Amino acid sequence: MARPKIALIGAGQIGGTLAHLAAIKELGDVVMFDISEGTPQGKALDIAESGPSEGFDGSFKGTNDYADIADADVCIVTAGVPRKPGMSRDDLLGINLKVMKSVGEGIKAHAPNAFVICITNPLDAMVWALQKFSGLPANKVVGMAGVLDSARFRHFLSVEFGVSMRDVTAFVLGGHGDTMVPSVRYSTVGGIPLPDLVEMGWTSQEKLDAIVQRTRDGGAEIVGLLKTGSAFYAPATSAIEMAEAYLKDQKRLLPCAAYCDGELGVKDMYVGVPTIIGAGGIEKVVDIKLNKEEQVMFDKSVDAVKGLVEACKGIDPSLA
Ligand code: APR
Repeated sequence: MARPKIALIGAGQIGGTLAHLAAIKELGDVVMFDISEGTPQGKALDIAESGPSEGFDGSFKGTNDYADIADADVCIVTAGVPRKPGMSRDDLLGINLKVMKSVGEGIKAHAPNAFVICITNPLDAMVWALQKFSGLPANKVVGMAGVLDSARFRHFLSVEFGVSMRDVTAFVLGGHGDTMVPSVRYSTVGGIPLPDLVEMGWTSQEKLDAIVQRTRDGGAEIVGLLKTGSAFYAPATSAIEMAEAYLKDQKRLLPCAAYCDGELGVKDMYVGVPTIIGAGGIEKVVDIKLNKEEQVMFDKSVDAVKGLVEACKGIDPSLA
């Protein structure tokens, strides 16, 4: 059987890391597309040349021509600009919306059967626009945010409790912004919910609250340290986890920015919710019940995303 074809739209910091991870994990042949001439070609060749030492097979191609992504099985989109210190993800909206239009048209023309994972920020609005511009079915277009935000939450919790990150499960719902909702009730250490761990005296409510806030600010913390761009190792790893779930029909239950048609009370928009990813793309949005306090936070987050979607419609009337 031929190897799956993975198209990476955007060959910057995240794009390059995606290609390297896809190579090491032997997920398929990789095509890197970018408007910058030489960048995707150089990165693809560099990664191919790491193959003999690492011991992977696969073909790696860089291109500036959308025709080369023809019939890709998976497209991962990072095209656009990242934020700099002092910027919020929302500040990127105007520039990146135009990028989503050209990317959507490229995917529509050349890879209409792909599973599309969007990473470009502001994430929830960009994946919504990308689905509209590409015209692909909503279950085949998804945004990567929840896996990353949950990974950050899991990392901070594992340090606090002094246990392996593998034994920490955590859920972050809502929009990928300041209003995201790290769910304390649905997050566990070795299966023990976080509120129980506070009751047991293993940590304090104050420490837990600080971890929740650090999770919300996780992206900004890295932007502040790097100064020249935003995070790329963990975002790329998170998207590869989603791509692998699709390619291997793993039926993973992962929080993603998925199209909601009434689930969790959200209608006709993309926001971070628990999903099941398998060969059918987003096979299910898991309609979990939120308590009153969680619902208030989630609704606030949904409202923030709605505001961004309205701003997109204002900039590009074809989306209205
Ligand atoms: N089509 C294709 N590629 C484009 C386009 C376009 N219209 N516009 C810009 N690009 C490319 C740039 O040439 C660059 O190589 O997108 C790439 C973006 O890479 P970086 O600037 O390194 O950004 P990165 O850190 O990879 O983040 C990309 O993901 O997490 C989000 O906020 C982040 O929106 C940003 C995106």
